[in-house]
Formats: sequence, structure tokens, C-alpha cells
Amino acid sequence: MDIHQNYDLSHCNSFAVPAKARAYGEVRSKQDLVQAMAYAVEQELPLFVLGGGSNVLFTADYPGLVVHIALRGIETNPLGTEQVELLAGAGENWHQLVMYCLKNKLYGIENLALIPGTVGAAPIQNIGAYGVELADVFVGLEAVEVSSGRTLMMDRDACEFGYRDSIFKHSLEGQVVITCVSLRLETRASPEIGYPALASELATTDSAAVTPEQVANAVMAVRRSKLPDPELLPNCGSFFKNPLVSRQQYERLLADYGDVPGFPQPESPELIKIPAAWFLDKTRWKGRRQGAVGVHEHQAVVIVNHGGASGADVMQLARAMQQSVAERFSVELEPEVRIV
Ligand code: EPU
Repeated sequence: MDIHQNYDLSHCNSFAVPAKARAYGEVRSKQDLVQAMAYAVEQELPLFVLGGGSNVLFTADYPGLVVHIALRGIETNPLGTEQVELLAGAGENWHQLVMYCLKNKLYGIENLALIPGTVGAAPIQNIGAYGVELADVFVGLEAVEVSSGRTLMMDRDACEFGYRDSIFKHSLEGQVVITCVSLRLETRASPEIGYPALASELATTDSAAVTPEQVANAVMAVRRSKLPDPELLPNCGSFFKNPLVSRQQYERLLADYGDVPGFPQPESPELIKIPAAWFLDKTRWKGRRQGAVGVHEHQAVVIVNHGGASGADVMQLARAMQQSVAERFSVELEPEVRIV
């Protein structure tokens, strides 16, 4: 494996902000990974694992070794007659995997079509969209511990999944490198079409007969209509998580604003999740521009780079957005994107 010094990361992050890694290597095999980890230890460099770069904002040059995970491979094993275990290398592209599953009649992740990034990044933030999240189909993963080079097998409980959250953002941050992910998929379709935007996209389809292919197509149509394509307008999807408010605060908002989208949390019904985009819309951020950065014209939670922005420019806009929501609603917006 070649290790490059002072490597330009601007093409490896979907915000397309300039940043350099002190060292950079592409990991195509377990051997490469072992070699990269040894190099980091030897040189006393911190290690940063990069997948598709679609959920990370570099605010400065990275003073360590960045490894791009390019471990490939997809394998399936039947689990009885109606389920299949799917094993995918961490470097596989997530959306390509969704398409592979549809083609092979393996169901359960069709709502997660078009999510940018890699398979290995999916568990880190427990990717989710349109009523489904990775944890719903997740069985386990294989990872390598950075300090020892040991291979670890982790099941779903061990990953401590939450809303856009997992143990890999907390106690295991920077400690392990995910190499392979295992999912349990169904051979019989049971489409999940309850999410409002998806339901309305499918309104003309007979809901009893809707196919997973139709669900995936509808998800792709909704995403394309609302979310900017990072290839054309660099961005990292939702910049903030959707905050939870108390039922009392939600009712006050309803009294003041009439219609407020809110999703009670199944595990704690006194907490209501309100789209960050709603707060940002009310504080008039949609379509606003601040130098080279701005807020997407169709989705107020998406920050875009109009060209030539730095990570600091993005952060400055993000802070101004947080501040105006905090002042008007006393709600703290927490970044969903990983800030490095
Ligand atoms: N809304 C507004 N203004 C806007 C956009 C949305 O008021 O500018 C309101 C609307 O009422 C809309 C509601 O917010 O119905 C929900 O909006 P949307 O369906 O676009 O979803 P979201 O809550 O903004 C979340 C995820 C997305 C995921 C979609 C669909 C988070 C942080 N974001 O967004 O995930 O694709 O739901 O499930 O949970 C990502 O993580 O990067 C991401 C894009």
C-alpha cells in the first residue's frame, strides 16, 4: 500500500472543502489495513477512517493518517427459506448495495436507496430514511481494533444504535475500523410506506400491491426533488439532527404555529421529534447565502458549498443557524455531520 504525504482531501469529501491529510493511504485488503495501522503507531499519528466522505466536514488539515477504506465484496447465505444473510465489504457503495439487493430480490433496505456513502460508514451513524434505519436489518459487523490489530465481531446490541448514533461515535470513536457488515434481509417483500413524503409520492399506487422496486423509485424521486446532488452542489445531507422537544413545548408550538410536523418517540412518547428543517424554515434560512456557503433552497437543514467554501465558512453559517433557532425557540440543534 502506498502512503502519500500531504494528501489533498478536497476530492474525498462531499462538502468539497479544502483540507490536507499529513498522510493518506487506500486500504484494499486486510493486509493493507494492518500495514496502515502499524504505520500510524510507528509514526505516532492519529488515524482517521474515511468512507465515502459524505458525512464529514474538515475544518482544518488533518494531522494524522487518513485511510480510505476500499474493501470490496458481497456474499449471501440463506437463513431458512425466507431470509438471507448478506455480507458486504466496508468499502462497497451503499446505494449500489441497495440496487444489488433489489436485483437479487432481497428486501428490507429499499427505503435507504440513494443515501450517499459506504457500507462501512452506515453503522457509524445508523443511517436512516423514510421510516427505515440500518439497525432494523443489522445483524453484526467485523472490525479491527486499532491498538491491537485484533479482529472483533460485534452484534447489534454491542453497536448501541440510536437515532443517527452508535458506539462508534462515542467510546469506540477512532478505536476500530469496520471491515465488513452483515444484514438480515427478506426474500418476501413487506414494504414500509408510512413516512408522509413517501406515502404521498406513492399515493396513486395501490398500497396493497406496492413493490419494493416502486418504493425504491419513490424514495429516489423524493430525494432527488429535495436533496441536492453532492456532485453538482457539494453538501453532506442533513447538517443537523432532528431535535427532541417535550410534549408541552410541542403543544405550545402547535398553539402558536398551527401545523407543526412532529413524531412522538415510540420508546418515550413524552418526547416529540421535530424536523430541524422546520425550525430553520421558520427562522428563514431556506435559500439564504453567506459568501460561498448557503442553505439549500428546497431543504432548510442542508448546507451547500456554492464553490470555494472552507470548512470554517460552513461552521460559521452552521453556528449562525443554531443561534437563531436557540434564540427564537430555545432549541439546541446538534450537528449530524462529523466535524473534524
Ligand atoms: N420541513 C420544513 N422545511 C424544510 C424541509 C422540511 O418545514 O425546508 C418539514 C416538512 O414538514 C417535512 C418535514 O420537515 O415534511 C420532514 O422533512 P423531510 O422529510 O425532508 O425530512 P427531515 O426530517 O428534514 C430526515 C433525515 C434525512 C432523511 C429524511 C427522510 C435527519 C437529520 N434527517 O430529514 O436524512 O433522508 O428524514 O427520512 O434525521 C441525512 O441524515 O443526511 C438525511 C438527509
